[in-house]
Amino acid sequence: MNKATRKAIIAGNWKMNKTRPEAKALLEELKGMVADIKTVEIVACVPFTNLETALAATEGTNIKIGAENCHFEKSGAFTGEISADMLAEMGVEYVVLGHSERRQYFAETDETVNKRTKAALAAGLKPIVCVGELLWERECGITEEVIARQIKLDFFGIEAADLKKCVIAYEPVWAIGTGKTATADQAEEVCAFIRATLAKLYGADVAETITIQYGGSMNAANAAELVSKTNVDGGLIGGASLKAADFTTIIKAAEVG
Ligand code: 13P
Repeated sequence: MNKATRKAIIAGNWKMNKTRPEAKALLEELKGMVADIKTVEIVACVPFTNLETALAATEGTNIKIGAENCHFEKSGAFTGEISADMLAEMGVEYVVLGHSERRQYFAETDETVNKRTKAALAAGLKPIVCVGELLWERECGITEEVIARQIKLDFFGIEAADLKKCVIAYEPVWAIGTGKTATADQAEEVCAFIRATLAKLYGADVAETITIQYGGSMNAANAAELVSKTNVDGGLIGGASLKAADFTTIIKAAEVG
């Protein structure tokens, strides 16, 4: 099995951007531009407040909608949180979990990422689980240790059948929002390592089926080279997903890639 048999997924992570009218305008523009794309799964992960607008704007199109987080409990006294069931009931398909900004600013740990991933799967959502090393960790030569630990902990207790519903995004923290992209070789090296780690845990056949994205300053200019790599099956795009033309260029690169 090889790259050709895995689903290429390009997902936008809008982060804390766009009001509802702005969200609608962006998606209306995007859907016309990507209408003929068939071989790449297109996802827009949007703020909670934009979900309903985004679902309505993309109904019947090839654009799937995702959230940017969910809580791990089904319901209860968790002020300000959103459950996986609440998202699934709306028709949301994907959810970003364990993003480095959640880990860095909101005390997210591998334990809570694991709990959120299980909750998302139980609700029928497809988790996009983010892993990645800090610059300091890369400089200390422990990138592989950090990634292996995140993969083992974030997917602890998750069966192969459920893992197959997950997407993994390799996002080196030093490349996010910095304009400092990992080179295509660096991205390939770590994405291949993630696949090898999954192979040890779940077997090579399962590992070969998992979509592994790269994320971190991916843009219209560098996407083609990144997604041409054997183990880079798509991208999780921040800033460049906020511009329909740039996001479309990245999607088209993955169609070729
Ligand atoms: P940028 O593409 O803005 O660097 O963000 C990447 C990211 O964090 C996607 O989740």
